[in-house]
Amino acid sequence: MAVKKAIHDFYRMKEAGEKVTWLTAYDFPTARFAEAAGLDMILVGDSLGMCVYGYRGTVPVTMDQCIGHCDAVRRGAPDTFVVGDMPFMSYQTSDEDAVRNAGRFLKEADVDAVKLEGGTRVVSRIRSLVDAGMVVIGHIGLTPQSSGALGGHKAQGRTAKDAALVVEDALAVQRAGAHMLLVEAVPPEVARYIAQTLTIPVFSIGAGKDCDGQLLIVSDLIGQFQAFTPKFVKKYCDVASIITQAMRDYCADVREGRFPEDQHCYHMMDGEKEKFLARMKP
Ligand code: KIV
Repeated sequence: MAVKKAIHDFYRMKEAGEKVTWLTAYDFPTARFAEAAGLDMILVGDSLGMCVYGYRGTVPVTMDQCIGHCDAVRRGAPDTFVVGDMPFMSYQTSDEDAVRNAGRFLKEADVDAVKLEGGTRVVSRIRSLVDAGMVVIGHIGLTPQSSGALGGHKAQGRTAKDAALVVEDALAVQRAGAHMLLVEAVPPEVARYIAQTLTIPVFSIGAGKDCDGQLLIVSDLIGQFQAFTPKFVKKYCDVASIITQAMRDYCADVREGRFPEDQHCYHMMDGEKEKFLARMKP
């Protein structure tokens, strides 16, 4: 059985140059697969809005949905570091709301850390959560909950001026006391600078390889999410076609009488069939 990693392990890994592996999961079976595969961390991302519920973005996702999915993931991966993702409007309103909602993740779903989006604009939220004793992961660069304000799901920090703003956000998150940082859709040279400058572990999703670890959305990695595929995704298999083909085969078997077969049936106990037929005689 794998030993569950804790925050100090990720600091040690950064120090040793060992990459941290991180994937999203939203349900019990996927969490089991992730733990069996040896992932270091699981994010129950609010990307579940698109990947599980079919919303166009993450904005409609609620606290109750996130808690329910975290709870299922925790049961599937009891020995993996699980991160709950704070959904839109669970922390934007006030420090008090942020602490109350983040606390729900810990109390109701037994997560190890919470993640929230934003840099300089959320420093007081990060401080409040850290002061309440929680492990906090910042998220900067492309922040999907505010993609409207960013002009869409666009890479960030592609000019020298914008890159300096991303670095400013990274420094603010660390100064506020966050334990780790996720950088999304930022040029690799900017992310490398951040990972080298910050003392906390810095993870990349679409920010190149020179961070302390990588995150991908599991639905992208296994080829399940089909609405769009960001440039930074590497698809490792195509479950959409495997599942669709299996369903087609099932339909054909049922329609043509090939399923169920004898081996799929519960037979009567010895001698009971004759008694049954005798009883049913008119
Ligand atoms: O919700 C999520 O999966 C995320 C990633 C896009 C970073 O926050």
